[in-house]
Amino acid sequence: MPTPVLVAVAWPYASGSRHIGHLAGAYLPADIYARYQRLVGNEVLMVSGSDVHGTPITVRADAEGVEPSAIVDRYHREFCRQWEAIGISWDLYTTTGTDNHAAVTQDMFLRQLEGGHIDRRTSEQLYDPESNRFLPDRYIEGTCPHCRYPEARGDQCDDCGRTLDAMELIEPRSRISGAAPVPRLTEHFYFRYSDFTGELARWLDTRRGWRPHVVNFARSWTKEGLIDRAITRDLDWGVELPVDDLGPGKRIYVWYDAVIGYLSAAKQWAADRGEPDRWKHWWHNDEARHVYFIGKDNIPFHCLFWPAQLMAYGGLHLPDDVPANQYVTFRGGKASASRGVGMTIDDALAAFEPDSLRYALAAALPEHADTEISTEEIARRVNDELVATWGNLVNRVLTLAHRNLGGTVPEAPDRAPEDRAVLAEVDGALAAAAGQLDQVELRAGLRSAMDAAGRVNAYLNATEPWKLVRSDPRRGAAVLVTAVEAVAGVRVGLAPYLPFSTAALDGLFGEVRAWARPEVPAGAALAKPSPLFGKVDLSAPA
Ligand code: MF3
Ligand code: ZN
Repeated sequence: MPTPVLVAVAWPYASGSRHIGHLAGAYLPADIYARYQRLVGNEVLMVSGSDVHGTPITVRADAEGVEPSAIVDRYHREFCRQWEAIGISWDLYTTTGTDNHAAVTQDMFLRQLEGGHIDRRTSEQLYDPESNRFLPDRYIEGTCPHCRYPEARGDQCDDCGRTLDAMELIEPRSRISGAAPVPRLTEHFYFRYSDFTGELARWLDTRRGWRPHVVNFARSWTKEGLIDRAITRDLDWGVELPVDDLGPGKRIYVWYDAVIGYLSAAKQWAADRGEPDRWKHWWHNDEARHVYFIGKDNIPFHCLFWPAQLMAYGGLHLPDDVPANQYVTFRGGKASASRGVGMTIDDALAAFEPDSLRYALAAALPEHADTEISTEEIARRVNDELVATWGNLVNRVLTLAHRNLGGTVPEAPDRAPEDRAVLAEVDGALAAAAGQLDQVELRAGLRSAMDAAGRVNAYLNATEPWKLVRSDPRRGAAVLVTAVEAVAGVRVGLAPYLPFSTAALDGLFGEVRAWARPEVPAGAALAKPSPLFGKVDLSAPA
């Protein structure tokens, strides 16, 4: 039975260009995993979209003197173009600015309000006396009370990763006027997260196979006990409230609505294909598997707040795995879109072919520790690993086969034990990679496939078919056919990682449709191959 797999990918803020840390943190791993799950025959629904609300957007719009919608349109278009260029295989990539998303958000809000999970409270919030407005979230900067990072934002500290309440910041300052803000009373809706501390703790205890840093971080929150948080803001940009109790100038908080995107996008996808109930196959189904691809700064939202929202709503599938990644670092510092540190996705696309970039990032995914990435390191991995091991193998085998097998793959030859051994090793690598990919150990899965490529190279060096084709043509042909079959198998293992160069071999091998080494039919045409990847020359002008 195929498993319905929801591949849920963090919704990037349409507030600025994303960098390759985001790509390696969420989008690329999600795509590799989704492509693998499709190949094993599961029913994949891979969704995300641009996160168009919140102060990351309005702060930028204010700074540029334009409407938030202008910022959102600019970056949403940029992201869509980049996903296409990198080959991110969304089933739906939408935005949180749609009517559907607002309706799904409002439905969730109302059900939770009726259920007593949301209530109204008056509290003190920071107000800018110079610009005469409240200063939600990123409109304030100050020193983190936990780690003393001096540039913590009103909603989160980028250094220690804690979510913050702006009122906790030491020496807060307004990003609009620079003034010291003053506390002032305002009324908001609060989600009663504290009511879910016990249920979340018990649920976290039943999670199996989660990355230790993820589950430990989430558990540390349930041990401290969750606190209730405001889920509305003094802003005029965001999903509108479905009740007017608070008066004008209030919107739903971006983090309350953004996570609902996983559900609203599934509904949108179903509606778009004319099967409006089809989303339930993923969301009202105990057999489904929901895997969330995020960076570690998003752990509280996906491992605590979103599950609490789902529990409060009732009947919807909870996350099965949240394989959050650590950070990509550049020269020791965390990449940050808002701070301009690191290589943007466009920079990387200008410098590298898409599969080369995918390869180098997949080989260095920050799955268990922060991982340093540099242009030089990407170039080294492309030249010394991807081209040297896989590109050259394909080229070598297909050139030899083209020259020596008379233009087509011959009937299956008599095989020697060493031939059977190399094919068995390729099959073994695919089986090993399957286990790793299922566990979202994508670096290891890539290692398995690349080791198999190395093994086929060693087989060629040992058998020397370029000599055999003269000294013992029957044996030479057997080795070449075996090598072609081995390449076909390794290609399957690399297919989730390298979709473009995989498709470049469709003419010979057919599309990759299953997670198994395919038969290479006798008679398949062996055309003269062209190189799958170019070497990177960093000294050449771009
Ligand atoms: N926009 C957030 C960020 O870029 C991520 C939101 S993930 C979501 O950090 F699920 F909440 F949408
Ligand atoms: Zn901090």
